Amino acid sequence: MDRVERRNWLAAEFEARYGAQPTLWARAPGRVDLMGSHTDYNEGWILTMTIDRDAWIAARPRSDEVVQIHSLNLGESGRFVLGAIEHSRQTPWLDYVSGVAKVLQEAGFTLCGFDGVLHTTVPLGGGLSSSAALEMATARLLERMCRLPLDSVTLARLAQRAENEFVGVGCGILDQYTSAVGRAGCALLLDARQLSSRDVPISSGLQVMVCDTRAQRTLSGTEYAERRAQCEEGVRRIQRMAAGVSALRDVGVEAFDTYAAGLPPVIARRCRFIVEENARALAMETALRQGDCARLGQLWAASYAGACELYELCVPAMAQMMAAMRAAPGFIAGRQAGAGFGGCMVALVHPAESALFAQHVQQQYHQSSGLHPAIYAVSPAPGANLLDPHDVFPVDS
Ligand code: GLA
Repeated sequence: MDRVERRNWLAAEFEARYGAQPTLWARAPGRVDLMGSHTDYNEGWILTMTIDRDAWIAARPRSDEVVQIHSLNLGESGRFVLGAIEHSRQTPWLDYVSGVAKVLQEAGFTLCGFDGVLHTTVPLGGGLSSSAALEMATARLLERMCRLPLDSVTLARLAQRAENEFVGVGCGILDQYTSAVGRAGCALLLDARQLSSRDVPISSGLQVMVCDTRAQRTLSGTEYAERRAQCEEGVRRIQRMAAGVSALRDVGVEAFDTYAAGLPPVIARRCRFIVEENARALAMETALRQGDCARLGQLWAASYAGACELYELCVPAMAQMMAAMRAAPGFIAGRQAGAGFGGCMVALVHPAESALFAQHVQQQYHQSSGLHPAIYAVSPAPGANLLDPHDVFPVDS
């Protein structure tokens, strides 16, 4: 389905449900990280990029406090009242929408209700930030509909707060920031402490491929919280050995060697991964700017090895996917994506061989795992913005 067909479909569904045409269209993309696993909540660096898969909300403001929204992906409708927002047990996805509305109101903004139709092309729950895309599309929609004086970074922080405090997932800022700030054609080097980033163009000699293991990510919630707590414990212990450390971001690779012996082995492994991954995110910027494929391959191999051996976020399906990626034509580099524990992986390949790469990985991974993966090319798309329904291309960013 192309963008025009998608627009027509949403408009028709909107009209059928609400008896009028939508007046405002917001969209926000998913993301894939190219370096910097779990560094965001350690106030570190991440090389991240938006993908050309996004959530769209077609909407029309109402004169009351009611929000009604229908998900075309799930065939479900949800409803809430702005003045009385509670969790939705029947339609949990609605919490991403109502959670954003709730934090905006708590921040002192007055909102109006709306009717909406939602459709997303970000695979649900695969580690490509389907939830952040929905949060940011909602945030951007409300910002415009209610004329809120909020910039992209502030919207991203509020969306993260919605996920932390209302949805109850203790994620960092990576997903919402990328979805809010990303640019077409560019990756971002995100500084998660300063909440700022610089654009890093992706060379036309590199194609980013998502390799979705389609393996269940059931443990990711608990394991994620445990890793986060282990990093915090590492910081508390390092603070007893060194002044001026408020997060693992403050610890360099060499300095870490002097602290490691004073840490319990598991904590030392977790912290070492973060410290090294931060250094790799910075090195990645240079390698990407120079299009240095050999260096990219080394950095990604080290990231994946650390993710498996030190941070222990790999599952057998990820190893099977990695083996399939490494053996495929056009392969330059491969690593984990998102939180790990299943879900998607990511590869850099020579563009001319991306179709062959996909075919090969598909076959080999299916043979070794019995699962049916999804292998596809992605390109960096604009961050969350409004769509002009007449040409359905983003009108601004
Ligand atoms: C998830 C979280 C992010 C980040 C990544 C791991 O996607 O939502 O905040 O921590 O995992 O890098």
